Amino acid sequence: RGAEELPADLVGRHVVVSAGGTREPLDPVRFLGNRSSGKQGYALARTAVARGARVTLVAANSELPDPVGVDVVHVGTALQLREAVVKAAADADAVVMAAAVADFRPARYAEGKIKKQDGREPEPVELVRNPDVLAELSAERARPGQVVVGFAAETDDVLSNGRAKLARKRCDLLVVNEVGERKTFGSEENEAVVLASDGTETPVPHGPKEALADTVWDLVRERLA
Ligand code: CTP
Ligand code: CA
Repeated sequence: RGAEELPADLVGRHVVVSAGGTREPLDPVRFLGNRSSGKQGYALARTAVARGARVTLVAANSELPDPVGVDVVHVGTALQLREAVVKAAADADAVVMAAAVADFRPARYAEGKIKKQDGREPEPVELVRNPDVLAELSAERARPGQVVVGFAAETDDVLSNGRAKLARKRCDLLVVNEVGERKTFGSEENEAVVLASDGTETPVPHGPKEALADTVWDLVRERLA
């Protein structure tokens, strides 16, 4: 389906999309990060605008240009992402968590650059858990009937891990894709299965991230009151 063929079926809806990957600072010059490019989340935002939605995109460290017609909130860390997503979700019909959120952050932030010392082994980096934003959104829907969507990147036992994750997170839809060095991260294309809490499974063949985005919005649209 080309951009000009998209239905205007999200008119009057507000949707929130998170994209990119969070960075958890160790000191002023270093962070723990991940390989998410933000492309899938940006494709979701563009597709939702094309279908008529008002879109808030919470973008974590993506180098992509702000999509036209989208309200973009730039964030760095998981805690900043959570604050921005929760705020935007207050009046949203749907929230799609496409961002790669760091599970852990350094327990301490060094105000000055960490220096090496001759003859000394480096200090271990202590980590603490970040909040699970998707699980929080699913547990406490800001609005009755709000549709919550997660993404899962898996390397092994992709489907069984995905089903377990959907049950654990209690979201409505979970987009599961297989990742590897050359798969998904930074690539223009994607291949996935969308698992729904009602038990349905929608395979999405290998194709552009826009096509996966379009399928996600079809499935969200079906679930909106
Ligand atoms: N997610 C989140 N907050 C976190 C971690 C993940 O909101 N602290 C969201 C992601 O945006 C994604 C979904 O949860 O939509 C699944 O992320 P994933 O990393 O696959 O799940 P985890 O529960 O962190 O499991 P794992 O141990 O496999 O990383
Ligand atoms: Ca994780």
